[in-house]
Parts: sequence; structure tokens; C-alpha cells
Amino acid sequence: MCGIVGYVGEKQAQDVVIAGLRRLEYRGYDSAGVALVAGGVIASDKRAGKLANLEKAIADHPLPGSTIGIGHTRWATHGAPTDANAHPHSGGVRRVAVVHNGIIENFAELRGELEAADHVLLSETDTEVAAQLLELLVLSGLDLTAAMLQLVARLEGAFTLVAVDAHDRSRVVAARRNSPLVVGIGEGENFLGSDVSAFIEHTREAMELGQDQVVTITRDGVEVLNFDGTPAEGRRYHVDWDLSAAEKDGHDWFMRKEIHEQPRAVADSLLGRRTPEGHLHLDEMRLSDQELRDVDKVIIIACGTSFYAGMVAKYAIEHWTRVPVEVELASEFRYRDPILDYSTLVVAISQSGETADTLQAIRHARTQRSKVLAICNTNGSTIPRESDAVIYTHAGPEIGVASTKGFLTQLVACYLLALYLAQVKGTRYGDEIDQVMQQLEAIPEQVQRVLDDAAQVYDMAADHVGTRSVLFLGRHAGYPVALEGALKLKELAYIHAEGFAAGELKHGPIALIEEGLPVLCVVPPAGRDQLRDKMVSGIQEVRARGARTICLVEDGDDAITPYADVIIRLPKVPVLLQPLVAVVPLQLFACELATLMGHDVDQPRNLAKSVTVE
Ligand code: AGP
Repeated sequence: MCGIVGYVGEKQAQDVVIAGLRRLEYRGYDSAGVALVAGGVIASDKRAGKLANLEKAIADHPLPGSTIGIGHTRWATHGAPTDANAHPHSGGVRRVAVVHNGIIENFAELRGELEAADHVLLSETDTEVAAQLLELLVLSGLDLTAAMLQLVARLEGAFTLVAVDAHDRSRVVAARRNSPLVVGIGEGENFLGSDVSAFIEHTREAMELGQDQVVTITRDGVEVLNFDGTPAEGRRYHVDWDLSAAEKDGHDWFMRKEIHEQPRAVADSLLGRRTPEGHLHLDEMRLSDQELRDVDKVIIIACGTSFYAGMVAKYAIEHWTRVPVEVELASEFRYRDPILDYSTLVVAISQSGETADTLQAIRHARTQRSKVLAICNTNGSTIPRESDAVIYTHAGPEIGVASTKGFLTQLVACYLLALYLAQVKGTRYGDEIDQVMQQLEAIPEQVQRVLDDAAQVYDMAADHVGTRSVLFLGRHAGYPVALEGALKLKELAYIHAEGFAAGELKHGPIALIEEGLPVLCVVPPAGRDQLRDKMVSGIQEVRARGARTICLVEDGDDAITPYADVIIRLPKVPVLLQPLVAVVPLQLFACELATLMGHDVDQPRNLAKSVTVE
């Protein structure tokens, strides 16, 4: 998820673009760049690091005046955050400049075509491939709009592309597929932005674009075409948000926004993971198939929410590969004198990539000759840099301290790792792996269905303001979900919450049950009859002792109804994938209860987004 700005009008484009990027910096902040059309050439600058680095560079080496330009603040997906990988990107003769948000899935084969034709690419990015191809189309005589239409016909994946042509100071052209872009409508000027915060200080008149559309903005107007070249109409609307709300897409918290971004985050994290032949492909795996075939033990290390993702991963990896998996708190790992060898694969899960406990743990693992694979959401951060391989999640920046889309995309990456190991080890046939990938590709829609029912969860949260303690029960892959649900409530509502393996309740914790105590129960899918039946017994036990049972149950399962005070319906998904949908109501519950209690949901007391001390 990156920040993109485009402008054409009568103001100094550099000022408009930089100010817009500053409003969008929350969308990505590992590098930034700007490109202007001035005197028949592209004048640009781009720097790794925060926007301030770019502003300093431009202050030291001013760009020429111009009233047309584009800009980008990056959340790296392909290629580390460096000056060379920063946007904008150009072709070989710098005729066009392009900025991009998203993932071009077929960029590797397109890059191969360019290199086979002796084009030299300067970066590792998929964006530069698009820029090179666009430039060749413009050089062939097409105007920028026609060139963009031809370009998008060759691209696969999710993308927003915004471009300028050095020889045409009248227009900025953009294309979008499954990636955000909105038009700002001004007087004698027009804007493009990843969201309205990019231009809200100039105009509140906006235009929403549809899927697979190319938009051309000039000083005189806006033209929208479908990818097939037929004319289209964008939907005009007035923005009545203030700037702060605009940055949160109208939500009250970044966390709530990020909960609602999860369908997109899951879809983006699944993009580009398969070859044209359908085989799984993890582009930064960097461990050979033989090294992975030699793996006879996996140890997962992480902290907090990421640790719970690791607990879910254990079920998937062991079921699909039959390789034993240990899941260890990073802060405990190196002090227990772990048994590691060259055939142990250590998997470090970290959203920020900077958690000190996890970093120290992988450093210890590497001294024991083990291979380390990172699962991380922050491109170029320390943990992936110090690992042998990495699977990047593509959740985009997670601003809320409480992790939500970071967790869901970690689960996706864990499933992908499990399936990849199964593919390499041959413990699952291709059609079995394909079936699970299809089930994963259906998850964004199923998560959206849960989000569409958020009102019921919010009503339930309102019934629990003033609650002093809440228990969470789960079995199998639902047990880590119960732990995560408890953690969300602790870190946001500051109330006692505890997750249990439901089968463990009768061995002591059931003494906690008293009249009216809320117990949230994650009920396994009916597909695992034995597990589900035992969960029903657990629910009966706590209900018989006065608990208020709130049951998360898959559609169509009515066996629970007699024992549930509240039923929250979940889409039917396979048992191993249920955490992807079951955790969402728990995120919503904690977010809403904390909001009703008047807490700062994005920055809860005592917490930090990245714990860089041990
Ligand atoms: C999650 O809501 C918490 N903010 C915290 O437990 C977090 O998951 C933990 O600190 C690990 O962070 P990381 O994923 O960035 O390593």
C-alpha cells in the first residue's frame, strides 16, 4: 500500500505533490519521490527513507518550476527501500515517469522480455518494468492515454499506475485495477490521489473510479475510459470528512480501518504466489528445494500476536508436511538452550521486522547453523535482512498498535509456507495444494462477509461496557484464535481477558466461571465432528455454571443454539483456515468495546507498535 499523488493545474506542482505525499505518508514511508514535466524533460528526485529525506534533497538541489507532476511514498513490495527502488521510475530515455501502488504479478516474464531486447533496468521493482513498457509505447507514437490502454492489457495483478510524458505538459494519466485511486476535481486544475487526503486541502469534489479504468486529467477536465477503450463515467461525490478522518478513510481509528482492509490485504498477500503452470512460487525464498527437503524440524519464534500466528502455522505445517513444529516465544527461545541443527528451519514471524526479542532469537539460531526464514510485513527491516529467506506479507503499513491485518496476512504467509514445504517434500499432491490455494483465494470474500455483519458484534460490545473479565475458548486451530482474542481485549480495553484450550477448562480454570461471566467460544467447523462435539460439551459445562456464552459458529451449525446466549455466524471454511474468519469478530469486539470505554484504540496505554527493546 503506497501513497500516490498526481497534479495538473496552475499551482507549483512540486508544492502540491509534496504536501499531498505528506498527507499520505501513513500509507507507506520507506522511500519517496517526485517527477515534474519541465522544459520537455522529466525533472525528478527520489530518496530512500521518510519524505523529509526527499524534501532535504530537493532543498539542496531544487527542481525546476512546473505545474504538472506526480509523486509517491512507498511501502516496498518488490525490492528493498533504496534510492534506486524508490518511485518514480522511467524508461531508458526518461521520456515518461511512472509511480505505482500494487503488485504486477507477471513482472518477471515482462522483465525477461525487456532484458532479452537489451533494455537495461536499474531497479528490482515491478514498477520499472511497467515504466519501460509504457515508454516504448509512447516512443512508438501513441499519446500517453493510448499508451496506458495498451500497457494495462499486458499486466496481471493489482495495480494503480500514474504517469506523465515529458513531451506533454497537458495531462496526467492513470490506470487502476484492484488498487485505490480517486480523482480530485478543481477549477482549472485536477488531482489524483490514493485517497482524498492527498488533495482535500484544495478541493472536496471527488470522483470515484471503477475497476479496470484509465483516467486522464487535464486542466480542463477528466476523461475516464474502460480498459477496452470504451468511455466510462466516474461517480462524483462531495467529501465531507476532515483531513484526519480522510487519512482513516472515514473510520474513527486506523485500527478499525485496518480491520476493514483485511479482505484486500489477504488478497494482496496471495498475489503472485503461483507460476503460470500453477506451482507455488515464493519469490524471496532463497532457500533451495534441497535445503528445504533436508528440513526435519521447524521452530517458529515470535512475540504477541505474531506468536499466535505461529501457533496456527504449527497445525498447518504438521498436517500438510508431517514435519514436527515447535512454537516458541522469542523472549524464551535462546534461554532454554534449544536443540538446533543445520536441518532445523527457524521461522521468525514479525510484522514490524524490528522486534528485539525476535531479532536476538534469530541471531542465536544462526550461530547454531540453522537456516532462518522470516515472515514479515516491513520490506527491508532488520529481521528479514538478517534471515536466509523471507516471505513478505502485503498488508501495507499497519498504523494501529494492535495488530489486525498484520496477523491475518501472517496466517496467509504461514499457510503458503506450509504448502510450499509440502510441494517441495512431495507430501501433498499438486491438486491438493491447488485446492487449498483456491480455498485461500475465497477467503477475502468470506472475511468481507464477517465485516458486513459487524453491527451485531458492535451491539454485543455495547452490552459489555463495564465488564471486568472475559474468557475465550477454542480448540485446535481455534485455540490460538482464543488467545489472540484475549490479547486484543487486554491491550485495548485494559480488562482481564484470558484464552484457554477448551479441553483444559475442567483441569482448573472452570473455577473462574461465575454468573454472567462472558465466555467467547470459537466453535470448530462441523467438518471436524469430534472436535466440535467436544466444544459443545465445554460450552454446556460453562453455561451450566452461569457463564454468558457468546459462540462463533459456522453457518448452518445449529447444534450450539440451545447453549448460546449470543451466536455470531462465520462463513463455512476448512478447519485449518477457520482462524482467518474467526478472529475478525474478536478484533471488532475489542475495537468497539475500547472505543465505548473512551480509550485511545490506535495508541493504547503502555504499548508501542514495535518493541525494539528486550
Ligand atoms: C499485537 O496486537 C501487539 N501489538 C504485539 O503483541 C505484537 O504482535 C508483538 O509485539 C510482535 O510484534 P511484531 O509482529 O512486529 O514482531
